[in-house]
Amino acid sequence: MKALIIYYTQSGNTQMVAREIGKGIKSTGAEVKLVRLKDASYEMMEEYDLIGFGSPVWKADTPNMHHFIDKMPQQNGKHCFAFNTHGTLPHLYFPIVIPNLKSRGLLPIGYKGWYGDVYMPGMPKPYYTAGHPDEIDLKEAFEFGAEMAANSAKVREGDVSCIYPDPELNDKVFEQAMICSNMLLCPTNPQAAFYRNPEKCHYPDCHVCMDNCMMGYIDLSADPPVFGNRGFQCDDCHECSYCFMICPFGAVENTDPGQFEREKSVRHTNFEVMLDRDEAEGTFRRLIPVDQVGFDTPYVFWHPEHPYLKVPKEDNEI
Ligand SMILES: Cc1cc2nc3c(=O)[nH]c(=O)nc-3n(C[C@H](O)[C@H](O)[C@H](O)COP(=O)(O)O)c2cc1C
Ligand code: SF4
Ligand code: SF4
Repeated sequence: MKALIIYYTQSGNTQMVAREIGKGIKSTGAEVKLVRLKDASYEMMEEYDLIGFGSPVWKADTPNMHHFIDKMPQQNGKHCFAFNTHGTLPHLYFPIVIPNLKSRGLLPIGYKGWYGDVYMPGMPKPYYTAGHPDEIDLKEAFEFGAEMAANSAKVREGDVSCIYPDPELNDKVFEQAMICSNMLLCPTNPQAAFYRNPEKCHYPDCHVCMDNCMMGYIDLSADPPVFGNRGFQCDDCHECSYCFMICPFGAVENTDPGQFEREKSVRHTNFEVMLDRDEAEGTFRRLIPVDQVGFDTPYVFWHPEHPYLKVPKEDNEI
């Protein structure tokens, strides 16, 4: 059996989990390849019997993964599974992603998510989910990979009882749908818009933002240079701030620099209620107590040097 894992990662959590899932699949004797979403193609998928799709949770999946699935040619029942890493709002992902995979003719045989630390400019640091994914999460990811490979073989032999039931549309899903629609009602990125300051920019010696914009919105070789969904700035509603976070020279700036200052001391009480409940139900393992969450240090104050965040080294070896 041959398995392909296609994943997207910004801060490295999903890559860590993807590698462990890959190792788990490999432990069953299957052949496995890991590939970043930017290097994946529909043609490549043809060679494989089982495809894993993984991304961070951004309300549901990330927009680049969403587009990849939306534009996929029909797959005639090819087996797949979905996985993610997430912060405090994980419950919308599978109810959206699993039907999307099915709509492309894939057969989703399983799905699983793990908590991950969060790196957003205005979010507290340390974050509520700091420390994840830890060794326990990674062991679970390994086991999930082995299970997916074994279940794919069972389904091929006609035993469909191991296919996971469809994700439940329960109160948590509706609660998070309400929170996310509230966020989406904001007509632009709530962190304001990001733009490139040519006086600080080191292009062509640097092209980090251009190489890593998930939407391909940056082309500094064009005349005039293109930056963001508007061509001169980015206020995409997905709340992405990656170019701002990873620019080594602080050349990506925010049209509302006071935004992150105003985040100081903000308590995310709706997130806290949900985490308390998930902890009581045993689905969230808290690794730092709530009084150690950095409410007074939104990420850009906790780590004020540039780049705020380093692009994780690509590591597809398993
Ligand atoms: C722009 C952005 C939006 C996010 N939206 C959500 C969300 O809606 N729900 C959630 O649980 N976590 C959310 N997160 C947290 C990430 O899902 C989490 O940090 C994840 O582990 C990051 O994975 P990565 O390190 O592979 O990029 C968001 C993070 C970013 C940067
Ligand atoms: S990452 Fe920063 S310095 Fe590098 S090209 Fe982009 S804006 Fe310019
Ligand atoms: S915020 Fe920056 S990296 Fe993110 S989509 Fe917009 S231009 Fe691309």
